[in-house]
Amino acid sequence: MTERHLDEQRFFDEYAEAMAHSSKPLLIDPEGFLKEETFRSYAFEALGDIGGKQGLDCGCGSGETTVLLAARGATVTAFDVSSQQVRVAVRRAADNGVQHGIRLCLAAAESLPFPDSSFDFAFGASVLHHVELRGFSRELRRVLRPGARAVFWDPLGENRFLEFARKHLPYPDKFGQSPGERPLRYSDMTILRESFPIVRVREFELLSMVYRAVRCRPLFSTLEMIDDWLLGRFPSLKKYCRYVVTCVDR
Ligand SMILES: C[S@@+](CC[C@H](N)C(=O)[O-])C[C@H]1O[C@@H](n2cnc3c(N)ncnc32)[C@H](O)[C@@H]1O
Repeated sequence: MTERHLDEQRFFDEYAEAMAHSSKPLLIDPEGFLKEETFRSYAFEALGDIGGKQGLDCGCGSGETTVLLAARGATVTAFDVSSQQVRVAVRRAADNGVQHGIRLCLAAAESLPFPDSSFDFAFGASVLHHVELRGFSRELRRVLRPGARAVFWDPLGENRFLEFARKHLPYPDKFGQSPGERPLRYSDMTILRESFPIVRVREFELLSMVYRAVRCRPLFSTLEMIDDWLLGRFPSLKKYCRYVVTCVDR
């Protein structure tokens, strides 16, 4: 474990503490979870049919996406560097009745404890921007089978005003930044390309990112439609978006 791993571990152990001690069942409503953010359903669709496949959930946190992947019929191995997060994910798997399709491990993304060519697909929610990307992408390539796909969603860090807001402005449900994270930049794709020659990205939420501050669903849907039009017509605006889905094929 490096200093960076220990910092992340401390931060996320503390974050998971309340969930670890709560007696409330950690239930997931798959449809509600995917509908909450447009990029979530896009990312799950990009994985294709995962029924019967062996998948890897990278930096699984408290196991929300792990449960969703298992509920779609995959056998899922999920790992995280935070032992408290893994503990919560174990509980979440059981609470949602999918524990038999899930194996949870404490591991760091840059040194994976799995044999070569173990997985048919990989997934990661808000994790690429936490890891040392060169080490992780090498490991990811090693553990994926030829033809396997990996899909990730992450905050995009190309918009300076958004970066300012993330660091300094208050808004509802703001999740504090961990010491090791930095929203993904297009320059990070160059590092991914060293291991995966084809890297595809799709940006989400230009104007509709105001939903983070003004929780109004009808406004969000309208702004999303305007976003689709603007991003289709003016691709140079994509870099100002809030989130990005990254897709690589082995
Ligand atoms: C923003 S959270 C996302 C968690 C989960 N995927 C989700 O969407 O709820 C980032 C997760 O990555 C984990 N993490 C950070 N650095 C890591 C590393 N180098 N290896 C494995 N996990 C890491 C953290 O412990 C944390 O659980």
